[in-house]
Amino acid sequence: MASYYEKVGASTVREVVDDFYAVALDDPDLKPYFEGVDLPRLKRHMVMLLCSVLGGPEVYEGQDLADAHRGMGITGEHYELVGDMVVTALRKHGADEEVVRHVATVLSQVRGAVVEQSAEAAR
Ligand code: HEM
Repeated sequence: MASYYEKVGASTVREVVDDFYAVALDDPDLKPYFEGVDLPRLKRHMVMLLCSVLGGPEVYEGQDLADAHRGMGITGEHYELVGDMVVTALRKHGADEEVVRHVATVLSQVRGAVVEQSAEAAR
């Protein structure tokens, strides 16, 4: 049986990530978070992460997710928004529902590392 990675393909992952950041950076709520960020580096890390989540050989070499997002004050609401954008980009590029479900499961597992607890409490 083909792995998720084989089904989707690394070049599609790159397109998904490009698309996702185009949408996220166009969102007035999300845009401020990314001000001054080295976007090519961020995209590269996101591609590696998504490839490895899908079962590919890529090794994620970015920062630990909790360290990368610490102090940004990311709310649950913004997290859900970003998660939806990732899923929408995957579907747009033809990922089937099994792949989408797998990615959604992983997203729910890393939620605690990305969302700032104090931002949650303040809601
Ligand atoms: C949905 C799950 C998310 C995943 C899987 C994820 C993944 C990542 C990854 C892999 C990096 C790169 C770390 C590095 O380069 O070492 C990163 C950085 C970043 N993320 Fe996320 N992220 C998520 C959600 C969010 C959300 C909700 C926001 C803001 C609303 C956000 C804002 C950022 C910013 C601004 C950076 C750049 C940090 C820097 O380079 O200074 N992320 N994220």
